[in-house]
Amino acid sequence: MSSTSMRTHLCGDLRPDQIGDTVSVCGWVGRRREHGEHLAFVDLRDHSGIVQCVINDDIDVRSEYVLRITGVVRERPEGTINDNLPTGQIEIGDCEVEILRTATPPPFPIDARADDVDENIRLQYRYLDLRRERMQKNLRIRSAVNAAVRNSMADQGFVEVETPMLVPSTPEGAREFLVPSRKEPGSFYALPQSPQLFKQLLMVGGVDRYYQIARCLRDEDLRADRQYEFMQLDMEMSFVDQDDVLEAVSASVLDAAEAVTGERPDPIERITWRDAMNRFGIDKPDLRFGMELRELTDAFASTEFKAFAGAEAIKGIKVDGGADEYGRNQLDKLTDKAKGAGAKGLVWMKAVAGDDGGVRFDSPVAKFLSDDEVAGLAAAMDAAVGDLVLIVADDWEPTCEVLGMLRNEIGRPPVHQGPYRYVWVVEFPLFVGRDKETGNPKSGHHPFTMPHPDDVDKFESDPMSVRSIAYDLVLNGWELGSGSIRIHEPELQRRVFAGLGISDEEAERKFGFFLNPFEYGAPPHGGFAFGLDRLVAILAGEDNIREVIAYPKTQSGQDPMTNSPTAGDPKAVEELGLRIIPRVD
Ligand code: AMO
Ligand code: AMP
Repeated sequence: MSSTSMRTHLCGDLRPDQIGDTVSVCGWVGRRREHGEHLAFVDLRDHSGIVQCVINDDIDVRSEYVLRITGVVRERPEGTINDNLPTGQIEIGDCEVEILRTATPPPFPIDARADDVDENIRLQYRYLDLRRERMQKNLRIRSAVNAAVRNSMADQGFVEVETPMLVPSTPEGAREFLVPSRKEPGSFYALPQSPQLFKQLLMVGGVDRYYQIARCLRDEDLRADRQYEFMQLDMEMSFVDQDDVLEAVSASVLDAAEAVTGERPDPIERITWRDAMNRFGIDKPDLRFGMELRELTDAFASTEFKAFAGAEAIKGIKVDGGADEYGRNQLDKLTDKAKGAGAKGLVWMKAVAGDDGGVRFDSPVAKFLSDDEVAGLAAAMDAAVGDLVLIVADDWEPTCEVLGMLRNEIGRPPVHQGPYRYVWVVEFPLFVGRDKETGNPKSGHHPFTMPHPDDVDKFESDPMSVRSIAYDLVLNGWELGSGSIRIHEPELQRRVFAGLGISDEEAERKFGFFLNPFEYGAPPHGGFAFGLDRLVAILAGEDNIREVIAYPKTQSGQDPMTNSPTAGDPKAVEELGLRIIPRVD
């Protein structure tokens, strides 16, 4: 497969089996070392690895020259065997060297040392960075994931359909990239945040099971797990309930994981959103470590300590053996972090040995707590001497969230560190928070998400408690993907719009082109999309998706290789009917 008219083998594939064979390899010059006796060692590199070639030292080959070398594979002389290298037993001798292309010296070494090179430089010379083993491995893992996902979806009867890149604005929440129309100056297309609208209309169109490895674009602040452009495995299916969707997605994710790691992960467990919040304080729980939130509301039910009295929820986390580890300075920092996340304060308590052999607590607030409360706290937290307990009191959700943030801050390993812990989070709330201006509830997922059938009665009386049939897939604390069962009945859709404060007239104006087709017979349907970049990053052992994208943008949204974004050509700008207003900062 790898042989071509120019080469018989890949550099990294040669083994003692080939000793005595005449072979041709092609690649780039890694290292060159003089050997005496008019000989030089050259490490020739291609994507598969490196092989040592012994060449005549009169030949002028330098770093990153592109060569074709033909020679005889032979055993390395004793003392020169390199056990750290797959080709370390052999070398190529009697070399005939053909220089296919000379090269300017590269700005950084094409090996692991480039990991420490400034990211802007790596991206400016991405084509050189890509020559490195790490990047070659990542691109190949990505390709294996794409192939496995594609096979899995096809095996399950999904049909690959491409949806457009020039689309109308959609109500999915992220800021969009706009594309000005030349034919209709003043009008714009948007680049798709996702194929959401089109895939649902494919269900109306009778496609039944759709998937796409889809490029999505969102103008968001970039982070370790976010780029402007990213890829989703996007899918939608008809005549299904939540279990059908979860099963289909699980199969493709587990197939991809198995293709990369060689091991099939266990079936993916499920947790409700409420349990995830109660136990981990976050809707994307990292199950790789314990330190779960514990309920203390009852233990302090009749407390006189004013920071706790009357709070809707009081919860704590325990840092095993943390009492000595966390000095005053660090505890102040944790308190500042908690307050930064909206907490009114943070109580810390260090478990120390009590006079009676039990546990008592050292804490600035210990004096405000009764003996019963201390005993109740020790029991609820299962605290042993040397443990550190952190407590927050507030409304239920902020209490959970602050402790969830602290739990991650204190205990969370880097995202890529094993083991892989997948979890489905189900029953997300239909509405989350309220719009600051209008006071209306906001959609948790998007406005077309099906409410939980048991909660439809609470729509008007207690909207914030209504659950939805929306679900997320989480891996090691990263949200891999989201989806939902969609509303396909107009009456229910109207009630959800009403809950969101969207009038019939506004719904028609904003979503008419999408919802009117449902009148022609929309089947019950649901779907999901997961971020391929995120899955690939974790499987490749990377904690930033940039490392698994061939040409990513920097944190500030630039591409140092092509210098984009660049000023538009004035003529093109004019043709689009645009005028650039100078920025005043
Ligand atoms: P959602 O908006 O949750 O759902 O996106 C699904 C998944 O896409 C990935 N993702 C990103 N990856 C990299 N960079 C980004 N900027 C970025 N934004 C999102 C994440 C995320 O979980 N249409 C719905 C799905 C549906 O309901 O079927 C959607 O797009 O991994
Ligand atoms: P105060 O009475 O506000 O001085 O707070 C006394 C202690 O309780 C301080 O250590 C605060 O950080 C802490 N504290 C105050 N409010 C809360 C709260 N809602 N939850 C947890 N700790 C709190």
